[in-house]
Amino acid sequence: MSAAADRRAHWRDLVARRLPEAARPGWPVHLDHCFARILLDNACGGPWRDSVKPPAHATMSADGLEHAIALGEAVLAGTADLALLNRQSLAWRGKIATAPVPDGLRDGDLLLRRWRPADTAPFAALNADPAVMEFFPRLRTEPESAAEAGSYDRRFVADGFGPWALEWDSRFVGFVGAFRIMRAMPFPGGERIGATVEIGWRLARDAWGQGLATRAARLTLADLAGRCGIRSVVAYAASGNRRSQAVMERLGMVQAETFAHPAVPEGPLRSHVLYRLEPAEISA
Ligand SMILES: CC(C)(COP(=O)(O)OP(=O)(O)OC[C@H]1O[C@@H](n2cnc3c(N)ncnc32)[C@H](O)[C@@H]1OP(=O)(O)O)[C@@H](O)C(=O)NCCC(=O)NCCS
Repeated sequence: MSAAADRRAHWRDLVARRLPEAARPGWPVHLDHCFARILLDNACGGPWRDSVKPPAHATMSADGLEHAIALGEAVLAGTADLALLNRQSLAWRGKIATAPVPDGLRDGDLLLRRWRPADTAPFAALNADPAVMEFFPRLRTEPESAAEAGSYDRRFVADGFGPWALEWDSRFVGFVGAFRIMRAMPFPGGERIGATVEIGWRLARDAWGQGLATRAARLTLADLAGRCGIRSVVAYAASGNRRSQAVMERLGMVQAETFAHPAVPEGPLRSHVLYRLEPAEISA
């Protein structure tokens, strides 16, 4: 059996036998197709049929299938909350009511707002700029950027918060916002999928050097704390990405440790620095 066929067989056994057999009375679902829906939606960051043709195990990318398998294994191991994963899936499908999200947050010439289709072109341009992507494993294509923007906006539907599209003087210049980390990460607390919230940013090159990321991140943190009750967040960057670490330091975050990012291939970009913001440290 090829390695890919082996992983597909692993997936089928996971959703058709191992998860249903392990299902406990408190679990929100017990049937194979419900487990498949939840894991695939969370691996795709939205209803899986929007981005993958059925049957998903045969057509989705190897990375996507591995993500779905990892989520299922984490449910079995007790390190992923099946109720949270199910809520996210049902919210994306419009099957449960979710709390209203403000259209935007404003600070003078800065506007943090939900994503629009017109953001795709400028977002793709910055994702294709080698200066912006210096610390990422590779540049992104336009379809990848469109998918990334869509998955960011769906975070608001699932969680009530997410990475906001950032407008400066009425021009889209990137994003700043918070994400629930939906992969196991090798730092304390990171093993519990979905339990840690990360704050992140990516701006077009001509918007650097003016304090925009720091101002936008402060708005995000105030909204997270005030509206969502989330006060503990982490941020991380490749060890060489001093500009990003400087934003974390301006926000009053404290460097905690270094770790090897599991989604980054072996090489100089793999080593990451983790910063934490705990409630007592939020700077005004
Ligand atoms: C990381 C990134 C968002 C940082 O942007 P930035 O503009 O350097 O960060 P800030 O918004 O905090 O701005 C700080 C700079 O603005 C200057 N500045 C000007 N006015 C300012 C103000 N009112 N307040 C704060 N800083 C101000 C600061 O002096 C500093 O300039 P310097 O770097 O020359 O010292 C940006 O470099 C980026 O998008 N990088 C590519 C993507 C990326 O790596 N993302 C992070 C992945 S982990």
